[in-house]
Amino acid sequence: MKRIVILASGSGSNAENIITYFRKRKQIEVSAVLTNKNTAQVLERCKRLKVPALYFNKAAFSDTTTILDFLVSQKPDLVVLAGFLWKIPKNLVAAFPNKIVNIHPALLPKYGGKGMYGSKVHKAVKENGETETGITIHFVNEHYDEGAIIYQAKTSIIAKDTAEQIAEKVHALEYEHFPVVLEKLLLKNG
Ligand code: GRF
Repeated sequence: MKRIVILASGSGSNAENIITYFRKRKQIEVSAVLTNKNTAQVLERCKRLKVPALYFNKAAFSDTTTILDFLVSQKPDLVVLAGFLWKIPKNLVAAFPNKIVNIHPALLPKYGGKGMYGSKVHKAVKENGETETGITIHFVNEHYDEGAIIYQAKTSIIAKDTAEQIAEKVHALEYEHFPVVLEKLLLKNG
C-alpha cells in the first residue's frame, strides 16, 4: 500500500476528493491530514471521513522538527499540498526530494509566487482579461510555486465570467485531475 499525507489550510474540498478517490482503489491510501489552522473546515471533513488529522502551529512546523519527525514516521510515498498556504521549510524539502506535490489554481509561471493564492489568483486573472486559466500540479522546492511542473490543464474564460465563476471552473479541473495525476505518479514505478 502506498501512502499519501495531505497538508491543507482551509476548506479541504481537494483533500476530501483525494481521500474518497483512493478509498475506491486498493493500492494507495491517505494515511493522515495535517493542517496549520485549528478552525479549518478540513478538520471536520477528516472527522466525518475518519481520517487521522493533526493540527500544528508555526513553531512546530518551522522552528522544531516535530512535523518533520511526524512526516518521516508516516513513511509517505507523497506529501500532497492541497490548499496549503505556508512555505515548506528547507529541511522538509530536503527530507522528501521529489515527493512533495502542490496544486496551484492557475497556469504557472503566471499568477504564482508569494501572496498569490485562492481568490487573489482568480481576481488577478479576471482583471488582466485572460481568456484561459487552469491548474498546475508541480513538485515543491524552497521557492513558492517554482518546482518542476508535472501537469497542467486549461479551461477557457469568457468575458462575463466573474472571479467566482473562474474559481468554480478551476475547482472542477482540480477535482477531475489532481487524484489521477497523483495516482499516475505513485504507480508509474510499480
Ligand atoms: C485550491 O484552489 C487549490 O488549488 C489552492 O487552494 C484551493 C484549495 O481549495 N491551492 P480546497 O481547500 O481544496 O477546497
